[in-house]
Amino acid sequence: MSFREVFGREPEVTASAPGRVNLLGEHTDYQGGFVLPTAIPQRATVSVGRSGGGEHRLHSANLHRTLTVPLGERGSDFARYVIGCIELLGVTDALDVYIDSDVPSGGLSSSAALEVGTLRALRELYGLGQDDVELALIGQRVEHEYVGVKSGIMDQMASSLADTEHMLFLDTRSLERRVYPFPAGAEVLVIDSGVPRTLAGSGYNERRAQVEEAARLLGVPELRDVTDVAAVEALQDDLLRRRARHVVLENARVLEALHADAGRFGELMNASHASLKDDYEVSHPKVDELVALLQADPRVYGARMTGAGFGGALVALVPQEEAVDIADGVLARYSGQGRRVVP
Ligand code: GLA
Repeated sequence: MSFREVFGREPEVTASAPGRVNLLGEHTDYQGGFVLPTAIPQRATVSVGRSGGGEHRLHSANLHRTLTVPLGERGSDFARYVIGCIELLGVTDALDVYIDSDVPSGGLSSSAALEVGTLRALRELYGLGQDDVELALIGQRVEHEYVGVKSGIMDQMASSLADTEHMLFLDTRSLERRVYPFPAGAEVLVIDSGVPRTLAGSGYNERRAQVEEAARLLGVPELRDVTDVAAVEALQDDLLRRRARHVVLENARVLEALHADAGRFGELMNASHASLKDDYEVSHPKVDELVALLQADPRVYGARMTGAGFGGALVALVPQEEAVDIADGVLARYSGQGRRVVP
């Protein structure tokens, strides 16, 4: 069903924003660290019109569902993302909103794409002045204040500022950023493991609390400020030491990757996965299985889980023109219901 079929008229504006895949720099962005995402071709498209009534009507084409939310209430499920955007932009009208997204859920920032797509549509409808960085920061506030996930800023910045042709290097403390080409001769392959991420919210906030505690014990504002990994040995608690070690080494991997060739970049991705699996403990056995199958293919430069973890997506760096063949081979041997997302 289209906007017209659901709401009986045409929308006033339509905008969209992409999902992202993070190549390196996982679980660093809530400790002031470095990340290296790129946009994926899949996008969330959001159409909006003023309804003139006393409630918002929000339709998800993917879920085939319409939610009605009285003005002043926050709603549930996907409504929280949209209502958060509406309220934080100071919009007081009742709106009809139609969402159509082909960003897979789980690790590819489908929620940031929805937030940035909604914020872009509202910016256009009301002629608002926020720039793309300000929109990203509002999207992050939606996660914190309306969804309850204490996310970093990577996903919204990537959705708002990245393109599919470059890697976006972002310093999540200063928000300084620069685009880089992909390593010569390589392209990005994204696979959705098909594992739903049930523990993502609670496990994510728990990790965040752990590294905040580690930073406090080490006497630094954020783990970004630890550049010598030997410093984390001062932590008595084994769990906190492993969590901190991941963040410190992951930051170093991102910085090295900026100037690495495809072979070295791939090694850094493999090391990132091992660290996320063993030290940060946010991977999943099914994702590990897929990563191992990818890493066993001699053509693959490197592979790792991507995003928050606990299931979801993985990313590999592979030679150009080989992605489809590699993915077909790996998925044929996988015991789960995975699928290729990009290219
Ligand atoms: C989620 C969060 C991001 C980031 C990643 C892990 O996608 O929204 O801010 O922390 O997890 O790197």
